[in-house]
Amino acid sequence: MKKYILLLIISISFVAKGFAEEGMWLPQLLQTLNEKQMKKMGMKISAADIYSISKGSLKDAIVSFGGFCTAEVISDQGLLLTNHHCGFDAIQNHSSLQNNYIRDGFWAYNKGQELTNAGLFATFIIRIDDVTATVLNGVTNNLTEKERQSAIDKNIATLRGNVKKESYQDVLIRPFFEANKYYLFVTETYRDVRLVGAPPSSIGNYGKDTDNWMWPRHTGDFSMFRIYAGKDNKPAPYSADNVPYKPKRALNISLDGVKEGDFTMVFGFPGRTNEYLHSSAIEQTVKISDPAKIGIRTKALGILDGFMRKDEGIKIQYAAKYASISNAWKKWQGEVLGLTKTNAVAKRKEYESNFEKIVLSKPEYNMAYIELLKNLKQAYTDIEPYGYARDYYNEIVPKVELWGIAGDMNSLVTAYAKDETAYTKRKTEVLTKLEESFKEYNAGVDQKLFDALMEMYIADQKAEFISPAFNTMFAEKGKSITALSEAVYSQTSFSSLDKIKKLLAGSTAEVIAAIKADIAGQLYTDIFKTYVSNVSPKLNALQSDINRLQRIYMQAQMDVFSTKAFYPDANSTLRVTYGNVKTYQPRDGVKYDLQTYMEGVMEKYVPGDYEFDLPKKMIDLYNKKDFGRWGVNGRQPVCFIAANHTTGGNSGSPALNADGNLVGLNFDRVWEGTMSDINYDPSICRNIMVDIRYVMFIVDKFAEAKNLIAEMKFVSKTGKK
Ligand code: ARG
Ligand code: ASP
Repeated sequence: MKKYILLLIISISFVAKGFAEEGMWLPQLLQTLNEKQMKKMGMKISAADIYSISKGSLKDAIVSFGGFCTAEVISDQGLLLTNHHCGFDAIQNHSSLQNNYIRDGFWAYNKGQELTNAGLFATFIIRIDDVTATVLNGVTNNLTEKERQSAIDKNIATLRGNVKKESYQDVLIRPFFEANKYYLFVTETYRDVRLVGAPPSSIGNYGKDTDNWMWPRHTGDFSMFRIYAGKDNKPAPYSADNVPYKPKRALNISLDGVKEGDFTMVFGFPGRTNEYLHSSAIEQTVKISDPAKIGIRTKALGILDGFMRKDEGIKIQYAAKYASISNAWKKWQGEVLGLTKTNAVAKRKEYESNFEKIVLSKPEYNMAYIELLKNLKQAYTDIEPYGYARDYYNEIVPKVELWGIAGDMNSLVTAYAKDETAYTKRKTEVLTKLEESFKEYNAGVDQKLFDALMEMYIADQKAEFISPAFNTMFAEKGKSITALSEAVYSQTSFSSLDKIKKLLAGSTAEVIAAIKADIAGQLYTDIFKTYVSNVSPKLNALQSDINRLQRIYMQAQMDVFSTKAFYPDANSTLRVTYGNVKTYQPRDGVKYDLQTYMEGVMEKYVPGDYEFDLPKKMIDLYNKKDFGRWGVNGRQPVCFIAANHTTGGNSGSPALNADGNLVGLNFDRVWEGTMSDINYDPSICRNIMVDIRYVMFIVDKFAEAKNLIAEMKFVSKTGKK
């Protein structure tokens, strides 16, 4: 009996409280919701040290980097630290055959050498306010979704006009908890962000796709930038006269490293999670959506790999595309594995039946929530075929680049329908864009992708979702996809930049006629039209209904499990996640350690390899054990893991220790735990960080950028110098 009661208590507290490590918390609510637990887990600083609007706090050192990653200020001269893969676009843009910064790395040894990056920005969060009451003013349950949204839009517009802020600041208002809550962010965006340093890809992306999403890891995934400001330290557009930004706060760098059980927290801008889904949505992810997307990408990657292995030029052209297709492909496989292994669907069903029991037991919930789960289940059943069609369209159409080019060319016809000026403007835009994209295009590769993917498009989908024009041509070609693609690629003018230029050189009337007559243009138009008329309307209507139900369900969960602290799903806003440095067991009989060292870098080293080559200087430093102040007992730490709940967008986020000092740089998660976006499980979810001492070793010993080391502030509790 005692045992039974104990079990009951454990299972109730499990359901009601979630896991200590789970959650992407709002920094302004830490004091109320998390501080006590964070301290219990080892944190030495206070919630106000992390987020405060009245005094400088750690949040003043954190920026959204270009809107897709996180970076942190690590010197009083605006030096920024982020990942190599976050800075990669900038690194690539400055690279040429003469200055191959991708291959060789780049280091500015004085500020004059730092490189400007058009379009790149860094956004600080100045203040976060709860504006729910204002935004939802007058919004009642009787409104239709459309009425509700227009009431909200109106309220937001009024609110925007009334916000107290400086002229150089911006305002952002975002929904949280499935739009049950709204928060307002006052932000400052700096748009002069210069490249300061990046290691060679052989360090910054060591292990490439093979090691991506994997532990043990040995990647030095970092790069450095600097924020420049006007003379008044305020945001200013790029100018040679701008000066290094003086931050309100810069992070101190800890020399102490981490050990098992240490408290860590990750502070950054996680992109998107779905932690409160109905079990049938998880089931669909595992059984239908992920497998469909994985299947398509497996085909695409197989084709690309075949070409890239044989042809050095194609390898360079398609490297970035391959990496990006492969990134999500690998993540989804980990997600299916993790969701299956941790019985996520069964567990969610159990959670739902607990929910239902409580609802049934309380008359005040009865009316509002009794049908909710049933309706959600039905809605997910209804959306399934449309979701599948969406996945197919989104995964296939953009990968056949001919369709994208056809879309660009067709946009000239649309522009022409408006007027001649619109046409001329659009023509320049399209040409500029295509000049760029054709650098990374090979018609032979594209045609093979077409064969493999369009075959799936036609074979795996319901008839109503397949373009009639494509289907007719397929039948005409004796149901041979290769015969079809032969015809398309030999007849179209869109698969070669030369042909496109020749076509565009004609008179406006000739150009428009030629585009309208092009076989690829015609097929793409029909593929697009079929999707827009047979999938989108139903999909959007069903999705809007799901959003409504999920919104009610979110509120219901918070009502029903009223003692549980809830965190909102990630939405690219500033969050804090925390946990302890921890090993994990990926499968039976295997236990993964928490720290890697340079020995492991050397164990993986394959001279001349595409993924595991190393610069000679790294090997020399290793052989001489020349680690300087960054090594411990003759060994150089490289990466470590902890149970911090992170997702895409957290890349580049600082990992801070109990005292709020920088110990690591977040860049990935372990494969077995990528399902943390849907179902966080503390047994196998770990985030991966570069040890800050490895970053410093590379800056100091490998790059010999003493100028950068001199800017930073190092701290140690053990008297390490
Ligand atoms: N998996 C990490 C993140 O999503 C790192 C990706 C970059 N590295 C790579 N080898 N593609 O997004
Ligand atoms: N690598 C991811 C990023 O780029 C981080 C993650 O998904 O864990 O943001």
